Amino acid sequence: MSKIVGFYDSGIGGLPYLAWLKEHSAGYSFRYLAESRHFPFGTKTEPEIKAIVTESIGRFIESEHPDLIVIACNTASVTALAALRQSYSIPFVGVVPAIKPAVAISRKKAIGLFATNKTVSQIYTQNLIDTFASGCRVCKFAMPEIVAFVEKNIFNATQEEIIKIISPAAEFFKKQDVDTVILGCTHFVYLEDTFRKVLGSTISVIDSREGVGNRALDLLEKIEDHDSDGHGDKFFVTSKEKMPGNYKGISLRYGLSFGGEI
Ligand code: DGL
Repeated sequence: MSKIVGFYDSGIGGLPYLAWLKEHSAGYSFRYLAESRHFPFGTKTEPEIKAIVTESIGRFIESEHPDLIVIACNTASVTALAALRQSYSIPFVGVVPAIKPAVAISRKKAIGLFATNKTVSQIYTQNLIDTFASGCRVCKFAMPEIVAFVEKNIFNATQEEIIKIISPAAEFFKKQDVDTVILGCTHFVYLEDTFRKVLGSTISVIDSREGVGNRALDLLEKIEDHDSDGHGDKFFVTSKEKMPGNYKGISLRYGLSFGGEI
């Protein structure tokens, strides 16, 4: 009987967003789709991302009948959200870099944006900056190796390995003298604690989990109740042959059962 909430990312990046919503709600049923066939998104072109996302979301809707989908990926959201809204009538919640909250807390009006190559170069992101951060210095940093590291190793990596991989980003933001860093890639949320330690207490680290979660909750409340076979939270992939991470183990950590391929 419960409403079904879908989450979509190139891989495991959206799981912390799902976890937030699960923790702050009751009675919803969750479905997660990891785009394992086409991971990663951040180094792909705009037409490639649009085609991949639109096609997979179509299959996700057909298979799981979600009432709402969170595109839990900054890269997919800043690139393909408008195309998705044109193609499908169900509500979507996008995940985009938390520029506005960062401006609100930055004392020096100097902000770091840590995201994928695609997100930092997309016009959607520049529009967000022009609209909400016109009086601020926004320093952007991308590093595709970190996305792959998180996808493949985050639950096996040692603290030393994590510190090593994030060091170039941390050094960049310290050098730029920013006081707030936005985790503008959902994969980077897994690095939050270590990143805070490495950056030190004078630099705030933020992401968009709360804003996105609250937006999803508002929209879900407005959707009428209906009969559905919504029981059981599940994790799916777009290709069982191509699974960069240990998805069966990771989905269990988040209370989802592995449902195979969509
Ligand atoms: N997790 C995604 C994001 O928020 C994309 C990572 C990737 O596939 O490059 O941007």
